[in-house]
Amino acid sequence: MSNASSIVTSNQTGVHNDLESSIKKHLANPFRKPYRPFSAEIFHQANEIISDANLPVILDSGCGTGESSFILSEQNQDALVIGIDKSEKRLDKFISDESIYNENNLILIRADVIDIWRMIKQSNWNIKKHYLLYPNPWPKKDQLKRRWHGHPVFPEMLSLCNQIELRTNWQIYAEEFKFALELVVGESVSIETINADSFISPFEKKYYESGHELYRVVTS
Ligand SMILES: C[S@@+](CC[C@H](N)C(=O)[O-])C[C@H]1O[C@@H](n2cnc3c(N)ncnc32)[C@H](O)[C@@H]1O
Repeated sequence: MSNASSIVTSNQTGVHNDLESSIKKHLANPFRKPYRPFSAEIFHQANEIISDANLPVILDSGCGTGESSFILSEQNQDALVIGIDKSEKRLDKFISDESIYNENNLILIRADVIDIWRMIKQSNWNIKKHYLLYPNPWPKKDQLKRRWHGHPVFPEMLSLCNQIELRTNWQIYAEEFKFALELVVGESVSIETINADSFISPFEKKYYESGHELYRVVTS
């Protein structure tokens, strides 16, 4: 994680022209892809822990190594922090042969958030805040569908929780996410720049040390 990282470059110069129509299409047509059996099994295990604990939940989706989730769990001892990432390699600091880590108020699961978000929605977890820290930017114009706000699961993801914080090192990602939130939620959302002196995640540290501007989009 020590190598300098290149600034995001793109053939887009602003918010994607198709973003509004894509979100309206996804709002009108709920995402129905079947869950993968692996996701259902791991969700079932996490759901039992969460039901028993009966605490508010903080989600850290795409948590990478789980270090951001660990920091959030230390900062929020009155909540259960759930970090989710699909990468076995990234999570191997905390998870060895199992697909779940459960210690104190931190749970890490190896799963695909596209399935897990929809299962959470059906289980009515009490989610206090949802973090999306430095998602892959997918910066090419034809990659809009791979960004969270361009994905068909986006409306369902937003409905999990009123308080969302996205961090990114690509200004257009932040502007599109703000646009998408305002369109769906109907409230104005701000973009702030981050002057990090302590880092919430490995990618935040790497991007900051590479001299990138860092942005956060936060709902109230
Ligand atoms: C750029 S990394 C950022 C990791 C971490 N949030 C950080 O800031 O250090 C993006 C992460 O999102 C994860 N990811 C991407 N799509 C995902 C999905 N559908 N389900 C779960 N994790 C996903 C990747 O495996 C990767 O670890």
